[in-house]
Amino acid sequence: MSKISLLKLTDVSKSFKGLEAPVLDKINFLISAGENIAITGVSGSGKSTLLHLMAGLEKPDHGTIELWNDPINKLSQNKISSIRNKHFGFIYQFHHLLPDFSAIENVIMPLVIRRDDLLANLNQGRKLLNILGLENRVNHMPHELSGGERQRIAIARAIITKPDIILADEPTGNLDYKNAELVFDMFLEITKEIKTAIILVTHDNKLAKKMGKIYQLTEGKIHTR
Ligand SMILES: Nc1ncnc2c1ncn2[C@@H]1O[C@H](COP(=O)(O)OP(=O)(O)OP(=O)(O)O)[C@@H](O)[C@H]1O
Ligand SMILES: [Mg+2]
Repeated sequence: MSKISLLKLTDVSKSFKGLEAPVLDKINFLISAGENIAITGVSGSGKSTLLHLMAGLEKPDHGTIELWNDPINKLSQNKISSIRNKHFGFIYQFHHLLPDFSAIENVIMPLVIRRDDLLANLNQGRKLLNILGLENRVNHMPHELSGGERQRIAIARAIITKPDIILADEPTGNLDYKNAELVFDMFLEITKEIKTAIILVTHDNKLAKKMGKIYQLTEGKIHTR
């Protein structure tokens, strides 16, 4: 029997109409439980596309994506959504908070989908917002928050379910250098405690170096750096 990996991509390819070359060309990739990996690459090299495929937000043209050795790339949208809620945390490049919900409501949304103990959900959400220094922003709406505060809310939302893996697409991209490191270190501390694996997409070399491995995406292929 083959070794159990958390997430495994085999010969995964993805093309978009209007682009000559495939964005991703037979990518093979593996991450184990609790592992931290960075993915770098120039703008347009396919980093966000790769994360979207891993989380089942988009489907590959070819290849297989396995979560805990089970293929997930051919499942229905309903099944993949429930798997995503259970196993994945996702921090989008452009944070994607729900504009009509407050900070705390955004944070607890993944829990609300799972269980209806609102009080426990709110307590857990408040605790996380405290840790991230947002105790005074609990009831603010996204449009009342700075870019960096929104990013911390998005981080809290990805962490709250204690997922197996967090896919983080430039999670500190809206922060100045000093705050980026501060927030990222907090994020690492929490994920280490809950034993969550991380795939971090970043242009920031200093953050990438905090990960156990660094990969580079170039012309549809992934290489260790
Ligand atoms: N839905 C789509 N339809 C058509 N083309 C797309 C789509 N999504 C991405 N692309 C194209 O695929 C390529 C890779 O995009 P992607 O967003 O993955 O890059 P990236 O490495 O994340 O870049 P950045 O560092 O700027 O965020 C780009 O050329 C982009 O225009
Ligand atoms: Mg991107």
